[in-house]
Amino acid sequence: MRKKLVAGNWKMHGSLAENAALLDAIKPALAGIDAVVCVPFPYLAQAQASLTGSSIAWGAQNVSEQAKGAFTGEVSTGMLLDFGCKYVIVGHSERRSLYGESDALVAKKYMAAQAAGLTPILCVGESLDERESGVTEAVVARQLDAVIQTAGVASLAKAVVAYEPVWAIGTGKTASPEQAQAVHAFIRGKIAALDAGVADGLVIQYGGSVKAANAAELMAQPDIDGGLIGGASLVADDFIAICRAAAAN
Ligand code: PGA
Repeated sequence: MRKKLVAGNWKMHGSLAENAALLDAIKPALAGIDAVVCVPFPYLAQAQASLTGSSIAWGAQNVSEQAKGAFTGEVSTGMLLDFGCKYVIVGHSERRSLYGESDALVAKKYMAAQAAGLTPILCVGESLDERESGVTEAVVARQLDAVIQTAGVASLAKAVVAYEPVWAIGTGKTASPEQAQAVHAFIRGKIAALDAGVADGLVIQYGGSVKAANAAELMAQPDIDGGLIGGASLVADDFIAICRAAAAN
């Protein structure tokens, strides 16, 4: 059976004091449960100090495709490794839509992360317009193909995919378990057509308004292998409940 993996995406939230309280609360509650928190860059050292030795891994929400150089404001994979990161989110819809990250750039970031030994959490997902015009599968396929064509399908053995319908992110509007499962099955089927073994082992997370109240029914779907959690990952009890629901399903 595939493992389930829940990752928190703190986005641009937190402070040293708030994070300390959150980490202190989730750490003992999630002992023995694999989980990840993707924190803002300045808090990586804090996450490392707090979570070393626990079952919770930490990572970043973005990374440069460049190794080093005159790239003001960017952060490299090597810098993430210096702080013990295991994971990095690439291609989050906020990066794609607000910061103009193209499929090609996301593929470069994905490759840079893997080359450094980080596990990329590759986000894909359609906007509301795209869903309403019936092109959800085409959009997700295009986003996946950009990575598969440059990094190869075998690279997905060392990656996590997160399906996040843009219309469900931070809106309180979750995809129904059936809607999410349909896209997850499409993603797995598309990859299976290229490499059945890779498809079978791939962790595909669902993201978009996952809450403690809807986590169990989402995680019970056969192709949903965990979640990428924004807002609810900032509330200790909610994040704990979601991680437990994933581990139980
Ligand atoms: P949300 O965010 O859980 O607040 O909808 C999910 C995400 O953007 O990763």
